[in-house]
Amino acid sequence: MTSVPSLASNVQQRLATALSAALPEAGSADPLLRRSDRADFQANGILALAKRLKGNPRELAGQVVAALDTESDGLLREVEVSGPGFLNITVSDAAIVDTLAARAADDRLGVPYATDPGTTVIDWAQPNVAKEMHVGHLRSAVIGAAMVKIMEFAGEKVISRHHIGDWGTQFGMLIQYLEEHPHELDHGRDGESSGEEAMSNLDRLYKAARAVFDSDEEFKTRARDRVVALQAGDPATLALWQRFVDESKIYFHSVFDKLDMEIADEDIVGESGYNDMLAETCRLLEESGVAVRSEGALCVFFDDIKGPDGEPTPLIVRKSNGGYGYAATDLSAIRNRVGELDARTLLYVVDVRQSMHFKMVFETARRAGWLNDEVKAVQLAFGTVLGADGKPFKTREGKTVKLVDLLDEAVDRATAVVGEKAGKVGLSPEEIAENGRYVGIGAIKYADLSTSAVRDYKFDLDQMVSLNGDTSVYLQYAYARIRSILRKAGDARPVPHPELTLHPAERALALHVDQFGEVVAEVAETYEPHKLAAYLYQLASHLTTFYDKCQVLSADNPPELVENRLFLVDLTGRTLSLGMGLLGIRTPERL
Ligand code: ARG
Repeated sequence: MTSVPSLASNVQQRLATALSAALPEAGSADPLLRRSDRADFQANGILALAKRLKGNPRELAGQVVAALDTESDGLLREVEVSGPGFLNITVSDAAIVDTLAARAADDRLGVPYATDPGTTVIDWAQPNVAKEMHVGHLRSAVIGAAMVKIMEFAGEKVISRHHIGDWGTQFGMLIQYLEEHPHELDHGRDGESSGEEAMSNLDRLYKAARAVFDSDEEFKTRARDRVVALQAGDPATLALWQRFVDESKIYFHSVFDKLDMEIADEDIVGESGYNDMLAETCRLLEESGVAVRSEGALCVFFDDIKGPDGEPTPLIVRKSNGGYGYAATDLSAIRNRVGELDARTLLYVVDVRQSMHFKMVFETARRAGWLNDEVKAVQLAFGTVLGADGKPFKTREGKTVKLVDLLDEAVDRATAVVGEKAGKVGLSPEEIAENGRYVGIGAIKYADLSTSAVRDYKFDLDQMVSLNGDTSVYLQYAYARIRSILRKAGDARPVPHPELTLHPAERALALHVDQFGEVVAEVAETYEPHKLAAYLYQLASHLTTFYDKCQVLSADNPPELVENRLFLVDLTGRTLSLGMGLLGIRTPERL
């Protein structure tokens, strides 16, 4: 019997500890433990250590092996020196099961708490008022929601900010038009409007306003005066503006609901929210010399940022007409997030095409002292969603695809897929509809999260809802199958039995389950949710191999074997469900 491992340590960590204990003189040398094809793990760190100690690596490896046997407390089955001084290490079955049993007793499944948590403000899901949401907004929402969950789970204090586009010159045109056509945003008789009605109202109004703006010079002048009135805080103008914001929020919330995502109203702090700070932001930048006047505008220059003509491209903080743009708002938001919200990290989930903007904004904030070694800003940049033709995703007529249409189509297809199997599982029509939503929306989220964010990906619904391959449906079926086995198990319960010999497929599955906590911790630090998706996919693949090789509920199995396999299957299911949940994807019990 091995000693009871602490909740936080997994097999790999226990092994690393044992290796360090075997060679105390190695001090803090990293044993460089990796999973290996030849054994469970390979330790490569002895080479570097031998160099440091000016010794022979194979001899040193031999000493480690000799010392390990006594130090390792039942952890090891076999250790051999290979090549110039690597160690191939096979751990004991008992150690694997014991370690997993300790992790299973903990709701966090071994996910460690961040060692030095602070506050992170995540800027995500930032659509624009009076505009339809498109696939770019989908990516920010999906990746942002996953990062919020993952970082919160890792113990970080997370504050969401939805930096919606709710300010700027186009509102002059919209407000003026509404002022002249006051009933354009009226709702039906019950006074309520659905998200779709809200958007179609806004869209109609936007097009109508644009048409007048483009054809009527006098309207254009009135619209420009409106912008001035808006920025000056004229109450009547603000009241009209607020109607656009409110109407848009109805629409946004309907889309986020469809996406099965929670967006809190108090976290929606759009560009307008920083209005009162803009003048001071400019004053601070100018007084400190970070920004200088150039042709009437207030600008920040950078040595390494030049336009196509070779001339330096400045960040314009205030235009020559006195107007403030996107940069002034973002700089003010940084001051607010660092100064008022006490953030130590600012994470921006924004399209890679805005990278230049953020590079300049972050550098400006650093020069101004708002960002420094203790307070950092990072853009989690994402690539473009492509159509089947490999070009940015558009309708056949070349228009931007409405996000809602895509979501609805995904749910329709998923419902068909779920419906085909529903008879066997005995699902009611309501359950089929619910599963269709979870599978369809999960498919879209997973497709987005399973490639590295900065890469473009093809939006291919057929592939996304396919039952085979790296899709969420595959993972959801793996989970449902686990639940079905556990239901069928009757009186047999999941109980770990460290005394049993594990089948290679069991070992592979168990050692993969063992890595969950470290993967989540890594993703929380590197902002790479695709690594969690990849981990979960491999988990489901190990599970498939395990089912192929090992019967769980066979009548031929002795009761301990059934219990131990149920234990493994149950823990795999909990891992899948927790991991998928962190990605924002549901795992129905029956599918
Ligand atoms: N509303 C912008 C857009 O639709 C994204 C805002 C990103 N966040 C920010 N702090 N600039 O492109």
